[in-house]
Amino acid sequence: MLQIVPVLLAYLIGSISFSFLYGKIFKGIDIRKHGSGNAGATNTLRVIGVGPAIAVLLLDAAKGVLAVWIGIWFSANADASYIPALAGLAAIAGHNWPVYFGFKGGKGIATTIGVAATLCFIPALIAGAVAILLIALTRYVSLGSLVFAVLIPIIVAFMDYPSSTLWATIVIGLFAIVRHRTNIVKLVKGKESKLGQKANAAP
Ligand code: G3P
Repeated sequence: MLQIVPVLLAYLIGSISFSFLYGKIFKGIDIRKHGSGNAGATNTLRVIGVGPAIAVLLLDAAKGVLAVWIGIWFSANADASYIPALAGLAAIAGHNWPVYFGFKGGKGIATTIGVAATLCFIPALIAGAVAILLIALTRYVSLGSLVFAVLIPIIVAFMDYPSSTLWATIVIGLFAIVRHRTNIVKLVKGKESKLGQKANAAP
């Protein structure tokens, strides 16, 4: 029963939407009403600028790191090795569906970077390298994000990780697919906006 505490804590931390807060506090806008409508680093770049986007990326990733650390701390005390993975998953769920902002958040990739780098560093590193290469070649951030999130569980499956890490990363990959539905449609139609473009075309 006590295991619910780190998971709940992780969800509440994940729910802090830094792109939303940056937009509101420094620009007086709701980032979700501009650009792609996504509360994330890519849309912050598109709507506000490079510096704020980097800050949002780092802070959203830090939520994932913190959540897994909290899980690790609790699992050491509660003898439940699955808690770090579950806490990481909860942080990404919080980012995607934040309790403080009407459950309308981001697509979870920055937080996934933090979670995966802490939970399964080598798979995150390999998937990250592939994603960066893909983004550099195509300039589609969403494509790189999707490949990143889907590749991690595939790599984890071939390595010696606990089953909780495999299951959590599978769900993380599914989260990414669900949250990128409109991006997938736009990619297929060739209407997805590229890195450096101001706004997404309608799907
Ligand atoms: O991580 C989000 C990114 O993959 C896509 O963002 O704003 O282009 O929909 P956006």
